[in-house]
Amino acid sequence: MFRHIALAIAAATIGGCQGLDFQTVLRDDHPYTISPLPGKCPSKYFPAHAGTSVVPSPPLQIHPLIVSGPSSNRVDLVFFSDGYTDEEQDKFIEDAARLAEDISGNQTFSTVRPLMNFWAAFSASKESGIGVGGVPKDTTYGLYRDGTELRGVYYDKPEVAGAACSSMGEQCDYPILLGNDPYYGGLGGQYTVITSSLANGPLVLRHELGHSIIDVGEEYDGGFAYFGPNAATDLSEPIPWTQWLSNPPKDGSTDTPRVERAVMPLQEYAWTLLNTSTSWSTTFISSGAYARHLVRFSLSGLPESKDLRVELDGLDLEWAPKVDIGLDRWHYDIHLNQTLAGGQHEVKFTLINAEREGVAQLCSVEIIEFGDETEFVSTPGHYGLYPTFSEKNETSYRPTNEDCLMRIVTSPNFCKACIEGLWLSLLKNVSLIDDIQESCEEHSGGWVKTLDLKLVPLAQFRADTMENKNEESYTITWWKDQKILPEFTNQTRLEIAGDDAVGTYAIGVKFATQEVRIDKEKLLSAGARYKVTRNCNAQGKEVHP
Ligand SMILES: *[C@@H]1O[C@H](CO)[C@@H](O)[C@H](O)[C@H]1NC(C)=O
Ligand SMILES: *[C@@H]1O[C@H](CO)[C@@H](O)[C@H](O)[C@H]1NC(C)=O
Ligand SMILES: *[C@@H]1O[C@H](CO)[C@@H](O)[C@H](O)[C@H]1NC(C)=O
Ligand SMILES: *[C@@H]1O[C@H](CO)[C@@H](O)[C@H](O)[C@H]1NC(C)=O
Ligand SMILES: *[C@@H]1O[C@H](CO)[C@@H](O)[C@H](O)[C@H]1NC(C)=O
Ligand SMILES: *[C@@H]1O[C@H](CO)[C@@H](O)[C@H](O)[C@H]1NC(C)=O
Repeated sequence: MFRHIALAIAAATIGGCQGLDFQTVLRDDHPYTISPLPGKCPSKYFPAHAGTSVVPSPPLQIHPLIVSGPSSNRVDLVFFSDGYTDEEQDKFIEDAARLAEDISGNQTFSTVRPLMNFWAAFSASKESGIGVGGVPKDTTYGLYRDGTELRGVYYDKPEVAGAACSSMGEQCDYPILLGNDPYYGGLGGQYTVITSSLANGPLVLRHELGHSIIDVGEEYDGGFAYFGPNAATDLSEPIPWTQWLSNPPKDGSTDTPRVERAVMPLQEYAWTLLNTSTSWSTTFISSGAYARHLVRFSLSGLPESKDLRVELDGLDLEWAPKVDIGLDRWHYDIHLNQTLAGGQHEVKFTLINAEREGVAQLCSVEIIEFGDETEFVSTPGHYGLYPTFSEKNETSYRPTNEDCLMRIVTSPNFCKACIEGLWLSLLKNVSLIDDIQESCEEHSGGWVKTLDLKLVPLAQFRADTMENKNEESYTITWWKDQKILPEFTNQTRLEIAGDDAVGTYAIGVKFATQEVRIDKEKLLSAGARYKVTRNCNAQGKEVHP
């Protein structure tokens, strides 16, 4: 569920972070400057259950879904099964694989996929499906809905989930509890909870991972938490996405860009079951001063257009369900390119088909009014200051109209400000250097010492067929005993005559992508030092000098 996310996640700091085998020096142009050993810290979440009783992990069968590198240097997402019986193990793997591919194949997390791993951890539940009416079934993590309506899905056994994730060590950074249920529902926070809903599983997963990985708040109206690289709350402060503005301020100008002209006269999270005896309706007041408006609502349990009539001031808006949505929840936008007259208006939802009583639900309804295109640029790809209205109708600002899945949950992508934040967040936990391997090789002229630099597979090392991989680059610099080795610039392999190899090498790596314009903490740089202590002799054996 999007509205009631526990956003504050206490980061557990446990012991020292694990370092790599060689000495790496991150966040610095010059690899001779020493800073603390980097490397991935233990999971952000686990073992974080100080004070709760210790339970054993359920038995887990771990299947790799998408693996880009060693867990010690990747951000690892793990799907844990709930409500899948022994016979349903294949279904669980399929559901998890579909979700992982959906969010990282060609959209959402696709460009950062080489920094992530996805795993499926199966553990059989005694019963199939998830609980309703606040009562969990006999399942591994005890997922359940509060009532029968499609909304939040909660867990009864956080300590079991904690034990399961902890048992995987650095292979589990973001635990995702996947409930075997075909309909909308979920929860954000310490454990991301989603269902196997075809329409909504990926949608909830992307949005919740946006909160937990990028550490951003909402962009939709009616929320309570707006923060991170996609939110501005005070226009006298610098705007976090200045680097992405379509009309950047002129050099030296301190004018803030204009705010796109919009207002939200109605916002209600109704979460109400509809019946045929009485329509659900509400009223709102328009100022009459905006050229266009939008009726935005979400429904569940309404598979056919003849089930429901949606009206604005008595005018049938001719709602039609998303194709094949069945009883699942979906979001609808009806844009009306005309001015709402000043004064009171009514929006009304009438259930027509009595057979849908008990499942037909109005989840949310909102009216937004906009200026014309000269006052409010609605074009996708335009970056500016768009007002967002909180549950208390307080205004904050977002970068685009509707480009981001943190606003429009049916959109599969983040906006550029969030994507930049995503790279920076992931690179806090991933070094661009995976490994350095040393060996001796016989060449025609004799033995040579080789150092092979293994980088995270970005830019030319990408295995995927990302269209714009040419827009990424690695710049690689090698030093030996503090002297630059220009002939090896941009090479991942260093070769030095076998009897002249001993010394201290340094490697500086800089990654560039068009998706990151500002990198204050130099997260797109990495450095390493490597000591070669033996030369290669004529027989190819390692010898001390
Ligand atoms: C990522 O790095 C941050 C900062 O170094 C640390 O607080 C956090 O626990 C790390 N998270 C993971 C998942 O390793
Ligand atoms: C990604 O692939 C899916 C399934 O193949 C397809 O439906 C979707 O349109 C693709 N998205 C993009 C942005 O290409
Ligand atoms: C929010 O505030 C604006 C400006 O004061 C007002 O026009 C609008 O009707 C308010 N919306 C709600 C839902 O209260
Ligand atoms: C029918 O729906 C209306 C509007 O939501 C509500 O006020 C009323 O209590 C409902 N009636 C029953 C019998 O549930
Ligand atoms: C909306 O109405 C205006 C003014 O009548 C017109 O110029 C514009 O093309 C319309 N836009 C759309 C999307 O129909
Ligand atoms: C190394 O690669 C970077 C990034 O592609 C490029 O800008 C630079 O010119 C290259 N340097 C050399 C010496 O080829």
